[in-house]
Amino acid sequence: MSEQQRPEAEDAFVFTPRKNGQAQSVSDELTAWMRTGWADTERRDLEPIEQAGHTARRRSAIGAAFPGDRLVFPAGRLLTRSNDTEYPFRAATDYAYLTGDTSDGGCLVLNPRSDGGHEAVLYLKPRSNRDNGEFWLGAYGELWTGRRNSLGEAADLLGVATADVRTLPGALRSAAGTTRIVRGHDAELDAIVDGLRADVDEESCAKSARLDEELAVALADHRLVKDEWEVAQLQKAVDSTVRGFHDVVGALPRAKETSERFVEGTFFLRARVEGNDVGYGTIAACGPNATTLHWMHNDGPVRDGELLLLDAGVETTTLYTADVTRTMPVSGTFTALQRRVYDLVYAAQEAGIAAVAPGRPFTDFHEAAQRVLAEGLIGWGLLEGPVDRVLELGLQRRYSLHGTGHMLGMDVHDCAVSRQEVHLYGELKPGMVLTVEPGLYFQPDDLTVPEEYRGIGVRIEDDVLVTEEGRRVMSAGLPRSSADVEAWLAERVPR
Ligand code: GLY
Ligand code: MN
Ligand code: MN
Repeated sequence: MSEQQRPEAEDAFVFTPRKNGQAQSVSDELTAWMRTGWADTERRDLEPIEQAGHTARRRSAIGAAFPGDRLVFPAGRLLTRSNDTEYPFRAATDYAYLTGDTSDGGCLVLNPRSDGGHEAVLYLKPRSNRDNGEFWLGAYGELWTGRRNSLGEAADLLGVATADVRTLPGALRSAAGTTRIVRGHDAELDAIVDGLRADVDEESCAKSARLDEELAVALADHRLVKDEWEVAQLQKAVDSTVRGFHDVVGALPRAKETSERFVEGTFFLRARVEGNDVGYGTIAACGPNATTLHWMHNDGPVRDGELLLLDAGVETTTLYTADVTRTMPVSGTFTALQRRVYDLVYAAQEAGIAAVAPGRPFTDFHEAAQRVLAEGLIGWGLLEGPVDRVLELGLQRRYSLHGTGHMLGMDVHDCAVSRQEVHLYGELKPGMVLTVEPGLYFQPDDLTVPEEYRGIGVRIEDDVLVTEEGRRVMSAGLPRSSADVEAWLAERVPR
C-alpha cells in the first residue's frame, strides 16, 4: 500500500493519485506538516438566514400531509463532465425550498415523531478532514473546492439540526416504517430506499412508486402559491432580467458584428453578476431561428431587417427565476409585416393578461389569447373561419404552437407535476405567478403562408402575479407594445 493510500481513521479518506499527476507520492514529513498550523476558523453566533422561518413553515406543511412517514429530499450531487471536472451544480428545487441551502451532496430528512409531527435533520458534507489529508489531497477537499460551512455553522444559518451525510445511508437502512423520497436527484439514496421496500410483485412495485410520486406531487401543489418572501425573490429575478434586456439592447451593435452568442453572453453576464445563473438556457434567436421554440444554439447572425427574439431569465442566488421574452427589430424599426404580426401577438397577450385574476380558471388566459390569434389569422386569410371552428379544431396551433403560459417560481416550468385539479383545471389564487407568452411562428418552409411571412417568429412573454384584486405584471419595466419597443431601441442602442 502506498503512502497516500493508507487508511488513518475509521472514516479515512482513501485517494488514488491521478495517473499523470505530477506529485505521485507524499512524504511523511509533508503529511505531518500539512496536519498542523491551521487557525480555528469556526464561525460562532451566526444569525439564521432570512428564509429560515419560511423553510420551517414549509417543512411543517409537507410533514403534516404525511404523518408517520419518513420523508427524504436529496439535494443532488455533482455531475461529472469529464475526469475530475464537473458541470455547474444547481440544488434540487424541493430541497432548496425546504432548507434554503443550495450546496451539493446534502439531504433533508423529516423523521416521523410519535405525536404525528416530524423532526427535521439536514444531512450535509462536513468540513474536510485535516488529519487524513482529504482537505488538500482529495479532489473534493476544501482546498480544491472551497470552504464549506461546518455542521454547526449550517445548523445556525439554516435553523435546522444537521448531521454528517456519510451517516445517512446507515440511518435510512435502519429506519422503521414507511420512507418516501423525491426521486431522480440521488441514485444512491433512491437505491437505498428501493432496498427498504419488498417489491416482489407488480402490485407492490406500483404501490411503491406511488409513495414517492405522492410526495413530489404534494410538494408541487404546495409550491403553487408563493409566500411574500418568494414573491419578493421573483421580483428580484425579474428586475435583474429587465436590466439584462437593457444590456442586450445596448450591445446590439456588437451582436451585429458577431452573432447571437453576443446576445446570450451579454445577458449571462448580468445573470452571473446579480444572480446565481440563468434560470434556463437563453434563447437568442434572430430571423428564422426565432421560429424554433427552444432555439439554444444561439450561433446565428444578427442582421438588420430581421427580428431578434430574446427569451431569458435571471435566477437569483436563492434559485427563483424570471422568464421574459421580447422580440425586437434589429434595425430599430419593424417592417409593416413584422409590425402586423407583432401587434397581433401583443393583442393576444393583452387579452391573456386581462384574464389573469383570482378565481378565474387557469385555462382562461390561454383561451383568451388563442381566440385573439385565431381571429387575426382568419382576418389575414391564413385560416378559414368561423373562429369557434378554428379553436375547436385547434387549427391556429399550426402557427402558435405552444400553450400561452405556465407557472413560474424556482423552476421555470414550475410545479409541473402538481395535480391537474389544482393546476391545469384549477382556479388562479393570489400568490400564484405565471407567464403570459403568446407567439406566432411562420416556419421558413411553411407553404401554407405567403412567402413574406416565412421565417418570422414573434413571442412576447411577461411574468404576472395574481393578487387579491387582480394581477400585477412583474416585468412591466420592459417596453412591450411595438411603438414602445421601437422607442426603447431608439433610446438605448448606441449609434
Ligand atoms: N423559456 C421557456 C418558456 O418560455 O417557457
Ligand atoms: Mn420564456
Ligand atoms: Mn415561459
